[in-house]
Amino acid sequence: MLLILILSVGLCQGNRVFQNKKNVSGSLDEEGVCQCSVILPDSTFPADRMESLEIANYNLSIHVQQEISKIQSYQGTLTVYLEKLRALTKRVEVMEGGGIAYTELDFELLKLEMREIESLVVDLRASLNGSNVKVDSLYVEIRNISIIVNQMESYDKNNILSVRRQIVSLRKVLEECKNNEAKPIPPPVDYGTCKHREIVNITKPFMVQLNWMSFSYKFGGWGKDSFLGANQDMYWIAPLNLDSRIMNTLRFYKSYDDLLLYKNPRDRSVPGYGQGGGMIVSNNFMYYNCYHSRDLCKLNIETNTVVRKTLTDAAFNNRFSYTSSSWQDIDLASDEDGLWVIYSTEENSGNIVISKLNSTSMIVEKTWFTSQYKLGVTNAFMVCGVLYATRTLNTRKEEIFFMYDTKTSKEVKLSVSFDKMMENVQSLSYNPNDHKLYMYNDGYLVTYNLSFMPIESEI
Ligand SMILES: *[C@@H]1O[C@H](CO)[C@@H](O)[C@H](O)[C@H]1NC(C)=O
Ligand SMILES: *[C@@H]1O[C@H](CO)[C@@H](O)[C@H](O)[C@H]1NC(C)=O
Ligand SMILES: *[C@@H]1O[C@H](CO)[C@@H](O)[C@H](O)[C@H]1NC(C)=O
Ligand SMILES: *[C@@H]1O[C@H](CO)[C@@H](O)[C@H](O)[C@H]1NC(C)=O
Ligand SMILES: *[C@@H]1O[C@H](CO)[C@@H](O)[C@H](O)[C@H]1NC(C)=O
Ligand SMILES: *[C@@H]1O[C@H](CO)[C@@H](O)[C@H](O)[C@H]1NC(C)=O
Ligand SMILES: *[C@@H]1O[C@H](CO)[C@@H](O)[C@H](O)[C@H]1NC(C)=O
Repeated sequence: MLLILILSVGLCQGNRVFQNKKNVSGSLDEEGVCQCSVILPDSTFPADRMESLEIANYNLSIHVQQEISKIQSYQGTLTVYLEKLRALTKRVEVMEGGGIAYTELDFELLKLEMREIESLVVDLRASLNGSNVKVDSLYVEIRNISIIVNQMESYDKNNILSVRRQIVSLRKVLEECKNNEAKPIPPPVDYGTCKHREIVNITKPFMVQLNWMSFSYKFGGWGKDSFLGANQDMYWIAPLNLDSRIMNTLRFYKSYDDLLLYKNPRDRSVPGYGQGGGMIVSNNFMYYNCYHSRDLCKLNIETNTVVRKTLTDAAFNNRFSYTSSSWQDIDLASDEDGLWVIYSTEENSGNIVISKLNSTSMIVEKTWFTSQYKLGVTNAFMVCGVLYATRTLNTRKEEIFFMYDTKTSKEVKLSVSFDKMMENVQSLSYNPNDHKLYMYNDGYLVTYNLSFMPIESEI
């Protein structure tokens, strides 16, 4: 540090070292003013160190910020991962639990799930960039389990027990990991309201289970009661017959655990049959296309009685279904605004027609005509009075590419792509109570979480 002092002339000239060891050198300038430079030892005021400390501190806080955001995304991934492991453990319990014999199909599902978990851990590793030893060893363990699952088909039941033991211990490690990390910031979600704009993102698929009939039953639908405020503990599953057309059996489970364990099912046969995978359950009624007709059916799931109503002009009997699922000319939907039917007519050239239904009488209240060809989409669903349609990008990816807002009668192209576990989508419906999509995917029951653009970002 350098100080410039102005002193009286008498003290000027030459170097002096004062008692306190300050080194002062002085000189007279051309106007006769004495200028002294005092070199203070570092210990008096270490300004240069201060400066580098400030920089280092700044660098450090940036680094900490980066670490915090890493931990947050790590936390999110872990939550998903744990949820999956729980479901997987339950599956393995079912397989070894005696009641149901495990088959090749169960192995198929296990293999798929392991593949999915493996890819999750790969993501986790990438996001942590090798900075977590625990995740690395998890990766090795998961690789190991994958290999075992792949070999299991030729093994005996004891191997399933050993996989189960490994899954239990894996879960313990994950719980530990999770407890060591900061709490995630839960996103504020307002279920049941429409205080948001269009869909912006969809999570990875969450595979719940294979339908109870088996892998061969590739067509059907499933979900919860999509009436706003309905009991959300109950699940319904409606696999179609092998002809991919007739719905004659329905199954209900009264809790998620029962669903996962195939326990305490309540089976119903459908009076007069339904047709196609367009059914929806809303307020304790199942609505669907009645067999071999353009009629809408409304089944009271308590009393198992049906009432029907003709949907005037609707094309039916596989005239305008969807790309990857036949016999779904008439697709029902239930969102925040109530009950809808998505179909097509000859008059609208096979393009999608949307009608709002009175859920009591099934009378059409209002109708909208879109310019999207119905056979050109994989499936469609309604959210807050907006129709969303999907198409296939490839065997592993779908895309929401079209929306029609019944409030403004405007259609818009968009692109929100999402993964799928199996190639074909046989039904897709939305539940306003949890903002999830329920997909029937080549016999597998899958869910997705939706996220929406907040209204604020309009500004
Ligand atoms: C004082 O400073 C002068 C010039 O910078 C240097 O030559 C001299 O050795 C210094 N004296 C002491 C005691 O530090
Ligand atoms: C601070 O970060 C910058 C840029 O990364 C780097 O050049 C500099 O050396 C760092 N300084 C310290 C004191 O760590
Ligand atoms: C991962 O860490 C290495 C060095 O440890 C660094 O060079 C690289 O940029 C990091 N990658 C990411 C994505 O953070
Ligand atoms: C993974 O399998 C290899 C070879 O079978 C074995 O040596 C290793 O201990 C296993 N690692 C873990 C973490 O289970
Ligand atoms: C969508 O979600 C995925 C995974 O959850 C995330 O990686 C991606 O950044 C999100 N995209 C947008 C646009 O929010
Ligand atoms: C729906 O239909 C029922 C029975 O016909 C009727 O009482 C009710 O008012 C209708 N609801 C609306 C919103 O029009
Ligand atoms: C999906 O939403 C549920 C809450 O309904 C949440 O528990 C779960 O973590 C979410 N899954 C993903 C992948 O974000």
